[in-house]
Amino acid sequence: MKPCTLTSLVLASTALGHDAVADHVLDLSNQAWRLQNLPLNISVPGKVPSHVHLDLHAAQVIGDPYFGLNDFNLRWVAWANWTYVTEVKGLKTANTSGDLKTFILFNGLDTFADVSFCGRHVATTDNQFRQWRLDVSDAARSCDSETPELKVTFASAPNMAAYLASQPDAETWPWGIEGWFEFPHRAFIRKEQSDFGWDWGPAFAPAGIWQKAWIIQLTPDEVYVPNSVMDLYRHGQVNNLPPDQTADWVLNCSIDALNSFPKDAEMKFTVKDDTGRIVTSDRLTNISNAGDVITGSATLDAKQYKLWWPSGMGAQNLYNITVDVVNKNKTLASVTKRTGFRTIVLNMGEITDTQLAQGIAPGNNWHFEINGHEFYAKGSNFIPPDAFWPRVTPERIQTLFRSVVAGNQNMLRVWASGAYSPDFMYDAADEIGILLWSEFEFGDALYPVTEDFLENVRQEAVYQVRRTNHHPSLALWAGGNELESLELPGVNRSAPEDYDRYLHEYETLFIETLLPAVYGNSRSITYMPSSTENGYLSFNWSRPIPIIQRYNNKTEGSLYGDTDHYNYNYREAFNISTYPVGRFANEFGFHSMPSLATWKEALPDDELYFNSSHIMLRNHHYPAGGLNITNYDNSSKGMAEMTLAVSEYYPLPNRADPIANFSSWCHATQIFQADFYKSQIQFYRVGSGARERQLGSLYWQLEDIWQAPTWAGIEYSGRWKVLHNVAKDIYQSVIVAPLFNQSSGILSVYAVSDLWSDVKGSATLGWIGWDGRRLNHTIGDFDHMTGASSKFGQEEVQFTIGAINTTLLTSFNMTKLAESKGFNATECLFVANLTATGTPINGDATRTYRHTNTFTPTPLSSAALVDPGLSVVYKKGEDAFEVTAKHGVSAWTWLSVSDRDSSVIVSFDENAFLLNKGQTRLVKYSVISGSSPGWEDRVTADSIYGEGQKD
Ligand SMILES: *[C@@H]1O[C@H](CO)[C@@H](O)[C@H](O)[C@H]1NC(C)=O
Ligand SMILES: *[C@@H]1O[C@H](CO)[C@@H](O)[C@H](O)[C@H]1NC(C)=O
Ligand SMILES: *[C@@H]1O[C@H](CO)[C@@H](O)[C@H](O)[C@H]1NC(C)=O
Ligand SMILES: *[C@@H]1O[C@H](CO)[C@@H](O)[C@H](O)[C@H]1NC(C)=O
Ligand SMILES: *[C@@H]1O[C@H](CO)[C@@H](O)[C@H](O)[C@H]1NC(C)=O
Repeated sequence: MKPCTLTSLVLASTALGHDAVADHVLDLSNQAWRLQNLPLNISVPGKVPSHVHLDLHAAQVIGDPYFGLNDFNLRWVAWANWTYVTEVKGLKTANTSGDLKTFILFNGLDTFADVSFCGRHVATTDNQFRQWRLDVSDAARSCDSETPELKVTFASAPNMAAYLASQPDAETWPWGIEGWFEFPHRAFIRKEQSDFGWDWGPAFAPAGIWQKAWIIQLTPDEVYVPNSVMDLYRHGQVNNLPPDQTADWVLNCSIDALNSFPKDAEMKFTVKDDTGRIVTSDRLTNISNAGDVITGSATLDAKQYKLWWPSGMGAQNLYNITVDVVNKNKTLASVTKRTGFRTIVLNMGEITDTQLAQGIAPGNNWHFEINGHEFYAKGSNFIPPDAFWPRVTPERIQTLFRSVVAGNQNMLRVWASGAYSPDFMYDAADEIGILLWSEFEFGDALYPVTEDFLENVRQEAVYQVRRTNHHPSLALWAGGNELESLELPGVNRSAPEDYDRYLHEYETLFIETLLPAVYGNSRSITYMPSSTENGYLSFNWSRPIPIIQRYNNKTEGSLYGDTDHYNYNYREAFNISTYPVGRFANEFGFHSMPSLATWKEALPDDELYFNSSHIMLRNHHYPAGGLNITNYDNSSKGMAEMTLAVSEYYPLPNRADPIANFSSWCHATQIFQADFYKSQIQFYRVGSGARERQLGSLYWQLEDIWQAPTWAGIEYSGRWKVLHNVAKDIYQSVIVAPLFNQSSGILSVYAVSDLWSDVKGSATLGWIGWDGRRLNHTIGDFDHMTGASSKFGQEEVQFTIGAINTTLLTSFNMTKLAESKGFNATECLFVANLTATGTPINGDATRTYRHTNTFTPTPLSSAALVDPGLSVVYKKGEDAFEVTAKHGVSAWTWLSVSDRDSSVIVSFDENAFLLNKGQTRLVKYSVISGSSPGWEDRVTADSIYGEGQKD
C-alpha cells in the first residue's frame, strides 16, 4: 500500500455501536463480498453478517432451509467448506514512518475459519463466541494492492468435530453422555451446541461471518475500544451474597484497547438520566492501566438514583453512563452504556432460624432477590429463536418480549446451548423489564479439559461477561445446562470407576475456569456451575474458589436447589405426587403440535396430516440417550405420546374435512400441553406457602426455533399456542388453585398471591353441571373450611393471603363426595371464582384481582359435555370480541383468526377460557404482526365440545 499521512481523530465505541470516526474504521458489512465453493462451482454474492445458508438461499442456489425436508436435504451445505472473499476498498495506506497499525476486528466467526489478508494467512479461529482482534499491520504494510483481498474460509463444523474426536488423545465419555441428535461430537467445538440438532430443532450447522466486522487503522496515539465492562454494585457487595441495600453504589469500569493507552491516561465519567440531565460527572479513581486495558472506579451516592425493576415490580429506570479515557486534555476513547441500578442475587444460603420458625424446611434457599426483595419468578426458557441468528432482528425480539410481558412473565432462562444473547436482546429486556438468567453455552454433555480448550473457553467467557455485564436485565450466570442433574449422575452410572476423574474435569471447567471469568469482571452477578443443581455446600470468600458444590451430599428432610421435571407417561400428568418438591422449578414440560397456519408455512399441502413423514421427521423427541441411528422408529415415540394423552383426556377430534380434523388434532395436543403445565405451575405456586418455600417456575420452552412438534408456547410465526394463553392466566399475581391428590382423594383449594403485601378477598366455590345448572352437592368433610357451612352449593369463603404466600380455602374428600347421592361425576365441574383487593408490587393504588379456576372429577373425554351454543361478534366501537355461551358451559373456549387471514397474527387478551352458560366475555386483542383487511369479521370461537362433533 502507498504511504500517506493521517490526522489524529477521536475513536469511540459504545454499547450503541462502534461509532468511531468513519475514516479509520471500515465497516466490513459495506464491502462487496462473494461466497464461494469452487469445487462445487458456486460463487454468489455474500453478506456480512450472515450465514452460508442465508446467502445461498438469497442467490436461489438452495430453497428455503425451513421448507419441507430441507433440514435433511441441505446436509451437503454443512459438510462443505465455504469461503467469503472481498477486495477491501477504502483502506488508508501506510504512512511514511510505517507506524500505522491495521486491525481486523471480528465480533464473531462461525466457527472454524482461516483468515487471510492480501494473500497472507493472518489467523485460524475455532470459537464462534469469541471476538477476534487481528493485528494485520505487517500484511498491510507489505501489500502491493490498494484493494487487498480479505478471505475467510470456513471448514465444515461437523467435519472438524469428527476430526477432533478422532484424535488419538481425544477425551472419551461413555455412550449416551453426549446428548446426540443429528451430527455427533459437538462437545469438542465451541459452536452453538444446538446447531448439530436438538429435540426441538433442526441441524443446519451453519457457517459464516455471523457478527459485525471492521477494519480499523490507528496511528500510535490513537486507540480503539473493542470491548469494555461497566459494573454497578453496592459498596461491599460480592458475588452470590445479598448486599447491603442502604450502601452507596460503586461504578467500576474497565476498557479494552487496540493499541495502547498512554501511561498517564485518566478516566472521567458522566451519568445521565433518561431526560438527558447530568446526575453526576467526575473522575474515576484507583486507575490501573495495563496498556491494552484500563480500569477505574467511583462511588455514586445511592440517593441520587432510581432503581431498575423487572416488569410488574416497578419502573425500568435507565441511565446512560459515559466513561472517557483522557490524556493531556485529549479524549482518547469514549464508551457509553445504558444501564440501570439494581441488585439481583440468587440466594443459595442456608435456611436461617427465622425461616425455620416460619415453617420453611431446612436445607438451603434457592431463589432470586431483586433490590433485596424475594419475589416469585414467573417465566419460561428461551431457546435460539432461529437456526440462523443473522436474520434475528431487534424488532423480532422486541415483539417476542412483548408477548412475554403480556403473558405475565418476569424472567426467562436463556438456555445454555444456543448463543450468548446479542446486546439488542439485553437492551429489549432492560426496557421492558425481563430478567435474563444467562448461561455459558454448554449443555447435556461433558467437555474436554485440555489446556487449549480451557484457554479458548476462558477467552470466550471473559469477552461475553464484559460485553453484557452492564445490562440490568442480566440476572445470573450459570455454567451450563443439566450438567449436575444428568451428566454427572450419567457417568457415575455408566463408568463409576472413572467418576472421580470426570468430576474433577467438570470442576476444572465449570468451577475453576468459568467462575474466575465471572468474578474477575463483575461483583454484581451470581455464578452457579450448572442449571438444575443442589446449590453449594459452602460459600466462603476466604478461599481462592469460594464455592464448594453440594452435589448429592444432602441431609434427609432438607431441601436444596432447583428442579427439572419431564414425565411422558400421560397417565401421571395430573398426579401431583409425581411433581418434584423443590425451591424452584426451572424446567418442565411436554410437547405439542403447532397450529395448522404455522404448519402451512413449512409443509407442502400433501403433508398436512398428523403422522405425515415430514411431521414425523420434524419430531426429534427421540428415546432417552439421543438418536439411535440403527433404530428408524425414533420419531414415533414423540408423536404417540401426544395422541395417547389427547385420547385419554379430551373428546377426540372428529371433523369430516381432513384438514380441519388435522387442525383440531394439532389444537387438542396444545390443550393437553397447556393443561399439564397449568397443573404444574399452580402446584409450584402453591408451594410458595408450603415448607419448600417454592419461589419460581420457568417452563420449557418459551418459543420455537422452527415449525415442529415441540415444547414451545409460542410458534415460530409468533402465534400463541394454547399454552402461552394458559400460562398468562395462571401467572397472574393472585390466583385460585384447586390441587387434587389422587391417592388421598382430597381436593384442596388454595388462594395464592405473589404480591409483596397482604391481599384480602373472597372466593365462591361450587359445582355446576355442564348444562350450566348450579348444583347443591353436600359434602361431609369441612375440616379446613373457613366459614363452614353444611352445604357446599355456592359457598363464599373470605380469606387473607400474606406476602408471596398461599391460603387454604377449603379441602374436601372427593371420594366421599363421589359416593354421595345425586353426584354424577361426568355431569359436573367444580368452579372457583376469586375476587381480591391488594396493592400491586409497584406500589400503585390498590386494585381488584379476579381469577377463575376449575376442577373436573372426570377427564373431559368422559364428561357429558353440552353444546355451549357459542357465538362471537366483533364490536368495532369497543375494539373487542364479544363471546357468548348460550346453551351450556364452554370449556377451553378458543378464539381464532380464520384460515384465510393467516397473514395476520393476533393475540387475544384472554383465550382458552371457561364460559358459563349465559355468560358473555368481551375480549380485547393485539396484532402481533402482519395484516389482513377485515379479519376481525371472520374470527371464530370454538370450545372443546366442538372438537368431538362431526361437522
Ligand atoms: C475442508 O477443509 C478442511 C480443513 O481445512 C480440509 O481438511 C478438507 O480437505 C476440506 N475439504 C474440501 C472438500 O476441500
Ligand atoms: C441514552 O443515550 C441514547 C443515545 O443518545 C439515547 O437514545 C437514550 O434515550 C439515552 N437513554 C437514557 C436512559 O438516557
Ligand atoms: C488542560 O486544559 C485546562 C483547561 O482548559 C488547562 O488549564 C490545562 O493547562 C490543560 N492541560 C494540558 C496538559 O494541556
Ligand atoms: C458432606 O457435607 C458435610 C458437611 O455438611 C461435610 O462435612 C462432608 O465432608 C461432605 N461429604 C462429602 C462427600 O462431600
Ligand atoms: C439402537 O437400536 C437398536 C434397534 O432397536 C438396538 O438393537 C440397539 O441396542 C440400540 N442401541 C443403543 C445404544 O441403545
